[in-house]
Order: sequence, then C-alpha cells, then structure tokens
Amino acid sequence: MWTEDYRPETLSAFKGSSKTVNEVKNWVEDWSRGQKQRCLLLHGPPGVGKTSLVHALANDLDRDVFETNASEARTRQDVEDKLEQAAKQMSFSGKQKLILVDEVDGMGSGDRGGTRVINRVIKETRFPIILTANDAYDSSIRSIRNACKVVELGNVHTNSVAARLRDICEEEGIEYEDGALKSIARRADGDMRSAINDLESVASAGSVTKEDVRTLGYRETERDIFEALKIVFKTTTAQTASGATDGLSEDHGEVFEWIRENVPKEYERERDVARAFDSLSKADVFRGRMMSRQDWALMKYVYSMMTVGVALAKDEKYSGWTRYGYPSRIRKMGQSKAAREKRKSIGEKIGEELHVSVSEATDMIPFLQILFEHEDWKANIVERLGLEEKEVEFIESF
Ligand SMILES: Nc1ncnc2c1ncn2[C@@H]1O[C@H](COP(=O)(O)OP(=O)(O)O)[C@@H](O)[C@H]1O
Ligand SMILES: [Mg+2]
Repeated sequence: MWTEDYRPETLSAFKGSSKTVNEVKNWVEDWSRGQKQRCLLLHGPPGVGKTSLVHALANDLDRDVFETNASEARTRQDVEDKLEQAAKQMSFSGKQKLILVDEVDGMGSGDRGGTRVINRVIKETRFPIILTANDAYDSSIRSIRNACKVVELGNVHTNSVAARLRDICEEEGIEYEDGALKSIARRADGDMRSAINDLESVASAGSVTKEDVRTLGYRETERDIFEALKIVFKTTTAQTASGATDGLSEDHGEVFEWIRENVPKEYERERDVARAFDSLSKADVFRGRMMSRQDWALMKYVYSMMTVGVALAKDEKYSGWTRYGYPSRIRKMGQSKAAREKRKSIGEKIGEELHVSVSEATDMIPFLQILFEHEDWKANIVERLGLEEKEVEFIESF
C-alpha cells in the first residue's frame, strides 16, 4: 500500500498549510501542565493527514507517540486503562511523549462513551494530548471541546496533492505525465489518501499517462455524475429525482454502480439503506430483462428504480456533506481492461483461422501456451495467426 509506504515521516514531507502545521507544533512545544487548553482537537475530512501530521511532528520533536484509536479499540475499558497509564508514566526511552487519541468521533457520547475517560485524563496528564476527528461537532466531542484548542486541517490543495504524487512516481521510477497527475489530484478533491490510492491503481498498468488515466475510466466529465448522485441522495421528491441522470455520459450499468457504491455512504438509517437496495435490486431485474430481450422500452423502469426509488427510500434527507466514492467494481474492470482486450484480440485471430466463435477460441489459449513450449510450433503458430509480441507474452503468462 503506497499510502502506508509514503506516510510522511517528517514535517518536511507533509503537504499542508504551514500556518496550521506551525500552530500545532507551537502548541506541543509550549504545552505545560498548568495551561487551560490541555488537549488539541485536530479535525478535518478523511485523508488530509491528521494522523500523519501527529506522527511526523513527534518525529521532528523527537518524542514517542502513544496512540490509541478510539474506533478500533475493542472495549472502552481498553482505552481507559492504556490511556490513563500513558498519561501518567514517562516512556521507557526517557523521551517526552505525545499522546494521540485517533478518531474520537467514533467513541460515542454520554455516560457510556469514552470521552468521559478523556475528560478525566485531560486533568491528570503529564503530556500533551492530540485528539483527531472528522467532525468537530460530533456529539461525543461536545463535553471535551472546552478543554481543547481546536485546529482545523482542511483539504489538501490540488497542486500539493499533484506534487506529492510526483514525488512518489520519481521514487518508484514510474513514467508519468504532469497532466495525468493533475487530473488524479483534481478528482481526489483534497483527499490525499484517495489520490495516492488512485495513483497506485493507475500505475499498476506500468505508467501514468493521460491515456492510462482515461483507460481506467476516469473522465473529465465525472463532476456530472457527482451532481447526479447529489440530486438522487438529497432530494425527496419523485419529480426532481427522475431528472437526476439526464444528460450523463455514463451508461445505465455505470450509473447503477455509482449509486450502489454510494448508498451506504450517504444513508445512515438501516431502514433507508434496506429500501434503497430493494429498489436497486428491482432496477437490476429490469436491466437483466431489458438486455436479454433487447427490449429498450424497459429502460425507463431501470432508471426510475435507480433514481426515484433510491431517492424516496429515505424518510427525510441527511444533512451534511458526503464524499462520494468511485465504484470499486468499475475500478476493477478498468484494471483488467487491458488484459480483456488482449484476450479478445487473440480470440479473434484464432477464431478466424479455425472458424469458431471468439469465446470458443479464447478457451484455447491455455493449449496454445502448452504448444508454445515447442519453439518450432510456436514460431509457426505466431506467424500463421499473425500474433503480436504483446499477445505472445500474454499467452505465455496466461
Ligand atoms: N498532508 C499530507 N501530506 C503528505 N501525505 C499525506 C497527507 N495527508 C495524507 N497523506 C497520505 O495519505 C495517507 C493517509 O493520511 P492520514 O494521515 O491517515 O489521513 P487522516 O488521518 O486525515 O484520515 C498517509 O499515509 C499519507 O500517505
Ligand atoms: Mg487518521
């Protein structure tokens, strides 16, 4: 995972507003037991480097990080015990400590929530504590906000994202076009983690050119599909929802994947999610019939179930902003696209020679591989079928 390999180890590799970085740095350096704001709440959207910033900072200041992830800890007791100890004891190395409570908004609020513990620990701690959260106004944070210095880490600027992607390409020795990095950065919309993930999947094809970015299915017009999703998810009237997908360049299969991928991201109430998937399953049934019967009159039901059906699945709309994700299925299809195309072109060549269908012919590829072990036969077959070098490689590594 490149996101792990390229986690910034020092602040010099961290891309972000230096004003914000210095604010956090100064707070840690100036921290004393007597001060009022005894912990710092670092909040911002996913993937902008909240966790990384704390680690890089600790590294630069030569401090040990004690880290607990609130949403991963198995029990609240677990968080309590470890945190209380960490806040009281010096570290074994004798270094100063920096305590990180990651993703506090996953802790839950009230009496049962972990923030009660944090409140107690804040009073006793001998070391600065940094809390991170996506949502600074989450209910579990309310009770600790007053004891916190609140710092926002915003979206990473597109140019900084592109610059980081360039560093990674250089490091990996991968050929790239600046325009391609820019377009990956642009669609990540400030989320460095997803930009690096996207880069990694594009680069799996060997290079990062604009063409590679396109074959993976990233389109410049993608903004439109995000608009469509917003309409479907935020509206509660059939009339508005039914126009959501008008004019999209994506076909019904792609639109389906986009909506399917993002329903659970937007809808929170289980009943809404269930109803939305029920509609999607009906859209899928109509889609199957439409394709098998080639009966395009059914298209309107496919779209209605996807748009109106999903829109009306919720009792009321969800407020707030959702980061919609790229459908994992389309991503996988994109990655295997080159392979599928080679397979098809080989199939066509065999099919023509042997007078069989392409699908029958592709079934023969493993046999060709065996025949290829014999150099003479290989040469003969390659010439007779007119196979290109890439196709030969494909057969041999099949
Ligand atoms: N500002 C940044 N500068 C450099 N790399 C970053 C930055 N933000 C995120 N990353 C990359 O993305 C990955 C995820 O970042 P992370 O700190 O876990 O984000 P967050 O905690 O805000 O969700 C990191 O491992 C790193 O590779
Ligand atoms: Mg994090």
